[in-house]
Amino acid sequence: MRIILLGAPGAGKGTQAQFLMKTFGIPQISTGDMLRAAIKAGTELGLQAKAVMDAGQLVSDDIMIGLVKERVAAEDCANGFLLDGFPRTIPQADGMHAAGIDIDCVLEFDVADEVIVARMAGRRVHPGSGRVYHIEHNPPQVEGVDDVTGEELVIRADDKEETVRKRLAIYHEQTEPLIAYYRKLAEQGKTKFHRIDGNRDVELISAELKQLLA
Ligand code: AP5
Ligand code: ZN
Repeated sequence: MRIILLGAPGAGKGTQAQFLMKTFGIPQISTGDMLRAAIKAGTELGLQAKAVMDAGQLVSDDIMIGLVKERVAAEDCANGFLLDGFPRTIPQADGMHAAGIDIDCVLEFDVADEVIVARMAGRRVHPGSGRVYHIEHNPPQVEGVDDVTGEELVIRADDKEETVRKRLAIYHEQTEPLIAYYRKLAEQGKTKFHRIDGNRDVELISAELKQLLA
């Protein structure tokens, strides 16, 4: 099962990816997590990506296509994967499909911008794993601490309200056209496309996804 999670920053892609990973046993490929790991490791890619990400801008299409091509070739992706945060532009989608990577299902998470701005203010993440929490809607068992490792949770560098609004604007301009792109592929029978109402509770959305993909 090869799945794309498509949606604005804060739409709940990472949260539902954690659920789908557990439920269907396929890995999450979060390009944002991959870039944050590169920044932490101080690699060449990380050095290039940091300023771009902190400003809420997008890393170049060529770099992203290269990263994903390499990652999906890994053994753990043989039975499928969850693409979280990729593709994010039409050229990224074209590059992926040109490389022979086909997709079974696109899940589009639709959430109102103001709901997103409010959610991001309460997000906490575990940098090591990318696990994501919300101080009210999805709190860890112990405040400020990751459930699995017991390590400290942090606020992401790009979660300042001003940066979130910038990321939303870039989403509407550069990523939203992918909705029409994949609807068209679905009409041609080349993939499936489902729009998910992401304004609802985490558990309700998870239940719908489980049913859809079963
Ligand atoms: P990335 O890490 O992909 O960030 P994003 O797409 O902006 O999405 P987020 O991770 O912010 O949100 P999410 O949808 O995963 O929501 P979450 O589940 O955490 O990318 C970061 C940056 O990297 C980009 O800005 C760019 O610079 C670069 N980049 C990455 N990929 C790239 C690419 N392909 N091309 C170019 N550049 C790229 O949920 C958010 C919060 O809400 C959490 O606190 C969560 O607990 C809570 N929540 C989730 N669902 C619900 C719900 N139903 N009800 C209430 N609260 C909820
Ligand atoms: Zn995410």
